[in-house]
Amino acid sequence: MSVAPVKKVCVIGAGTMGAGIAAQVANGGVPVLLLDIVRDENDRNSVAEGAVKRMLKADPAPFMSNRAAKLVETGNIEDHLDKVAECDWVIEAIVEKLSLKQSLYEKLEKVRTPGTAVTSNTSTIPLENLVEGRSDAFKSDFFITHFFNPPRYMRLLELVTGPATDMDLAARIRDFADRVLGKTVVDAKDTPGFIANRIGTLWIQAAINAAMDLGLTVEEADAIAGRPMGVPKTGVFGLVDLVGVDLMPYLQESLTSTLPKDDPYQAIARDIPLINKMIAEGYTGRKGKGGFYRLNREGGQKLK
Ligand code: NAI
Repeated sequence: MSVAPVKKVCVIGAGTMGAGIAAQVANGGVPVLLLDIVRDENDRNSVAEGAVKRMLKADPAPFMSNRAAKLVETGNIEDHLDKVAECDWVIEAIVEKLSLKQSLYEKLEKVRTPGTAVTSNTSTIPLENLVEGRSDAFKSDFFITHFFNPPRYMRLLELVTGPATDMDLAARIRDFADRVLGKTVVDAKDTPGFIANRIGTLWIQAAINAAMDLGLTVEEADAIAGRPMGVPKTGVFGLVDLVGVDLMPYLQESLTSTLPKDDPYQAIARDIPLINKMIAEGYTGRKGKGGFYRLNREGGQKLK
């Protein structure tokens, strides 16, 4: 089958990553359809529309220009999923939960145009689990494109293909990501966490554990685990605020269930009551009402 050029992209999931990826596609001058779920019956596109506004107001610099924003069409998966048939590349960027991703792919299988790419922005879930139960045609068009946060500025893109992936299609997307999105594409194997999160989650978890055990403040922890560990701008807790505090339990669940029992991560993964409490109270990081740094300013408390 011939491989279609990328003239229109669909991004599903208008959260931290999906909205940022859509903005970057629009910055490249390519039309993009941005879909999310319906949260408000009276305003069925509010999630995706809100995400576009967020991208224009991003601080310290907008993630896209007003001109680029005109290329973003917003919608929801209940009313507008059939529009993916017009798109040459569908990027799934919904929450890091295997069952939700699998059920979205089941729906996508019915509406997408065969021969066009469907990729996941998963941080940790192996490709073989994502495509379980899907048709051979879907498996051939499916692979992982793992963007980094924020997509406008982080150049790295991990590309993970499976044994059934059409490599001509993957090459077309690689070329688009390089030329239009300005990414440096790195091939990664289909292992839990791929390259970056296999390493990253290990040191983030270790740093959080140590800070909790020692009762440090977030500033004290980031002074030690920031610059010296190569995260000069945010530090570890600042990075969790950026990535999303609510992503942390999903990453942990995904990695502990897929990594080998003797992997070093298994020994340090642990439930952190403070993180669960923060999520329940809306302290999900920059996308919510603030994260560790906000809590610290409000309470001046030590981590425990
Ligand atoms: P998020 O929680 O900010 O956004 C997820 C969005 O998906 C929400 O707007 C939610 O309403 C929507 N959603 C949930 N179920 C849906 C469905 N069935 N259909 C359509 N939309 C649905 O999550 P975030 O952080 O953007 O993560 C998305 C994906 O990107 C995850 O797989 C995550 O592991 C991955 N990722 C996250 C990074 C980060 O720094 N936050 C970095 C790289 C990858």
